[in-house]
Amino acid sequence: MSNLTFGIIKPDAVKNGHTGKIIDRILADGFEIRAMKLIHQTKKQAEGFYAVHSERPFFGELTEFMSSAPCVVLCLEKENAVPEWRNLMGATNPAEADEGTLRKEFATSLGENAVHGSDSDDNAAIEIAYFFSKLELV
Ligand code: CMP
Repeated sequence: MSNLTFGIIKPDAVKNGHTGKIIDRILADGFEIRAMKLIHQTKKQAEGFYAVHSERPFFGELTEFMSSAPCVVLCLEKENAVPEWRNLMGATNPAEADEGTLRKEFATSLGENAVHGSDSDDNAAIEIAYFFSKLELV
């Protein structure tokens, strides 16, 4: 298990003013922030990031949404970072997310679900490198 994972505070959560509250929850849960920046992705950048979903019917909607407004990208450190961050986020569909999770509290729909997190150590390494250079990891 790696100690690093990648996260996004998605455009819905940023627009709705939840960035600070989500960062508070990340720190309270014992993560250290190794890197963080506010970005506004182009459609092409979002398509590259979510390339694994390119054949899925929701790909267009997903990449439109992710490039529609600013989001916050994060590199997070904690022991067992990937499952720990996924636990804090909750289920992809907020209707199925447990009480106390970020998606239960802040997400509005399956598409606009407040946060993203890597699903494996291998993908965490790929996703961190997609948005951060080594020099940006503190
Ligand atoms: P995320 O963890 O960012 O990974 C891929 C995203 O695709 C997911 O969160 C959802 O926001 C989105 N997604 C997954 N399934 C669907 C779906 N059936 N319809 C629309 N969006 C989806």
